[in-house]
Amino acid sequence: MKNYFYITTPIYYVNDKPHIGHAYTTILADVLARYNRNIGRKTFFLTGLDEHGQKVQQAAEENGIDPKKHCDQMAPRFNELWKKLHISNDDFIRTTEERHQKVVKEFLQIVMDNGDIYEAEYEGLYSVSEERFITEKEAESGEFRDIKKLKEKNYFFKMSKYQQDLIEHIESNPNFIQPEHRKNEILGFLRQPLNDLCISRPKSRLSWGIELPFDSDYVTYVWFDALINYITAVGFKEDKDQFDSWWPVSYHLIGKDILTTHAVYWPTMLLSAGIQLPQSIFAHGWWLMGESKMSKSLGNVINPMDLIDDYGVDPVRYYLMREMVLGHDSSFTMESFIQRYNSDLANDFGNLLSRVSTLIKKNYDARIPEPGDYLESDIQIKMKGESLSSQIEILIADMRLNEAIEEIMQYIRTVNKYMEDNAPWKLVKEDKIAAGRVLYIAGEALRLSAVLLSPVMPHRTSILLDALSARDTDISWGKLIPGDILKDHEPLFPRIK
Ligand code: MSP
Repeated sequence: MKNYFYITTPIYYVNDKPHIGHAYTTILADVLARYNRNIGRKTFFLTGLDEHGQKVQQAAEENGIDPKKHCDQMAPRFNELWKKLHISNDDFIRTTEERHQKVVKEFLQIVMDNGDIYEAEYEGLYSVSEERFITEKEAESGEFRDIKKLKEKNYFFKMSKYQQDLIEHIESNPNFIQPEHRKNEILGFLRQPLNDLCISRPKSRLSWGIELPFDSDYVTYVWFDALINYITAVGFKEDKDQFDSWWPVSYHLIGKDILTTHAVYWPTMLLSAGIQLPQSIFAHGWWLMGESKMSKSLGNVINPMDLIDDYGVDPVRYYLMREMVLGHDSSFTMESFIQRYNSDLANDFGNLLSRVSTLIKKNYDARIPEPGDYLESDIQIKMKGESLSSQIEILIADMRLNEAIEEIMQYIRTVNKYMEDNAPWKLVKEDKIAAGRVLYIAGEALRLSAVLLSPVMPHRTSILLDALSARDTDISWGKLIPGDILKDHEPLFPRIK
């Protein structure tokens, strides 16, 4: 396997108020990036902002300021959220940046020179809210607002020319579009003739965009501009070595609502420009509020900031990763959040740490005891711990994150059971050496679990590892050092009443 891992989130509309949807995709990307860094792969994690288009222009006009200034004012809200959520992105791209505008123009010129862009007069239905021409059928669906008839000269990308190549690529690369049901959805869509894509907007109607390199009366359609961010950030046309190391991207993580743009527009654009296609486009489902869609109009959008303020970052990250089966919708409820927190984090994980550290402090002068010779039940814990990391690796490569987390939790439950079976709190009175062995094994199992959970809960696991004096984030067994002193720590996961 290539030792480079490149992962992206969608670039979010700069006008949006950050919500749970943005937070979710970005945390998911962060967990995968951290995991890959931990297993020693060179990792590049990109997120950013989509700053052009009509809505931004309108919002800036309403505020009476220049659109770039408007973007500059809005952008920090996202960066602040990422900081708060402990997002470890390597780059934050904004489509108004010079580096990106340059690449978009170069890309357009390449596609033009290949003969894949033509000019045509087009008359059709245009959805102002979606900023694109729509079909009669789409107009009838009732999903589009502000529809008007428009007749304009525009530039078109010959998307249809690549339809067959794309179908073949999807069919011969089973991981290209994930999960499977999304792949089938796109193959179904591609069974119909594909239209060419209108990629320009006349400046007379919209000026806030990247000017076409071959016609200064037009700007680039916002999606054509935005998708290119994924290659700008890794040095397309700027740094060949850098680009060749990272591209093709390992994962474009997206929500299911932006699948067509990523799985049809983007690959055909790349085919035209002669650039390799992404290794995988992964579409996750939606967070619902109970049974209904989260939407501003229903007033049921979860503000991630509020949850974090009340319960801390890591429990929120944990819940989002543990609860959603990747690829399917998931329902957010406060009851399930509190239940997960109390059962997994407070009872199982937090409790194991407090038992181990309390007993070591009380009976061994806070020094990690010697393990001595392992008995059968100790060997069981050690062996399970040793096989856990390879199990996790397989599950994560398969994007079964919730199952990976559950495996670790199961392990923690097994260790709690081991503690109960051996009852070191009683054993210590009769046989201090034997009780020390049990506490070493439990402590080491806890260390391993914390290392494996660190991509999901980087902050609290680092407190835990520090409390155990664990200098090592190695996943092999036996890294706790007898004699090391346990440190005091705040309660990791106090129960929510
Ligand atoms: N700017 C485009 C993406 C361009 S990428 C080249 C865009 N931006 S967005 O701000 O609307 O992105 C929203 C992202 O959040 C999408 O991936 C969408 O699926 C996701 N979510 C929005 N609401 C969501 C939920 N309720 N649940 C999960 N994710 C959802 O689209």
